[in-house]
Amino acid sequence: MSPTARRLSSIEEMVDARADFARRSRAVGLVATMGALHDGHRSLIERAAATCDEVVVSIFVNPLQFGNADDLRHYPRQIERDLEIASQSGATVVFTPTEEEMFPSGPPAVTVDPGPYATLLEGGSRPGHMRGVATIVAKLFNITRPDRTFFGEKDFEQLTLVRHLVSDLGFGLEVIAMPIVREVDGLAMSSRNARLSEAERIQATVLHRALRRGARIIEEGCRDLGELEREMATVVAREPEVALDYATARMSDDLSVPIRLEGSLRLLIAATVGPVRLIDNLAVER
Ligand code: PAF
Repeated sequence: MSPTARRLSSIEEMVDARADFARRSRAVGLVATMGALHDGHRSLIERAAATCDEVVVSIFVNPLQFGNADDLRHYPRQIERDLEIASQSGATVVFTPTEEEMFPSGPPAVTVDPGPYATLLEGGSRPGHMRGVATIVAKLFNITRPDRTFFGEKDFEQLTLVRHLVSDLGFGLEVIAMPIVREVDGLAMSSRNARLSEAERIQATVLHRALRRGARIIEEGCRDLGELEREMATVVAREPEVALDYATARMSDDLSVPIRLEGSLRLLIAATVGPVRLIDNLAVER
């Protein structure tokens, strides 16, 4: 049986624990989450445990990154199960601050400007989202002072933003990216999947099918972004209950728009299935 991770809910306790790790020269890994942990999170925590002496898993449903109050209210919460999963996967500390603990005076007056990420794909569709992510991630870095942090590639724009945040603001830590973990039918694991009905759960697999179709036509010689976007949208349109937001390609390193579909590309897709907005992506090398 894996030892139970220590649950800390106050910033003071977390800062004290971090200071103790520093005194004992323990390398610290941070896996930042909003809870409702699944196998994707497990892979991040396990990787952190394999490369760090102490693994902090933060669980905080960050109100700053939700534009929609309903989405925030319905975000899945399962703290007891999360503590179990985090412990089994190798976490030594689970940091679970409340909203009052993180923002005692209400929403922060000073926030982190996400620069161009404010208006890229996810940022463009969800005003304020990327600022909310950048602000909370910076705060979590300041509280937990990790040597390494582990992010999944599923939120590819978020991962790119975090890499910039770390280098542009000099956080002095290493960002480790981990591949997307998928269900057997291709659906990318996400805490939001828990909100899908049985029928929606099946419809949601269209995101991965559209990405695969996109990868195939690039493989077959398509170099035109417009054609790629139309093909991927046609696949999604076969599921009339799924509302496509975007299906496109960007350059992997900086998410710029590819002139031609060549080099290191990321196909990215977002769609609403029932009450849930889902995202997914796929790497394509050409
Ligand atoms: O990916 C998430 O779960 C969240 O965006 C994060 C990084 C924990 C910030 O709230």
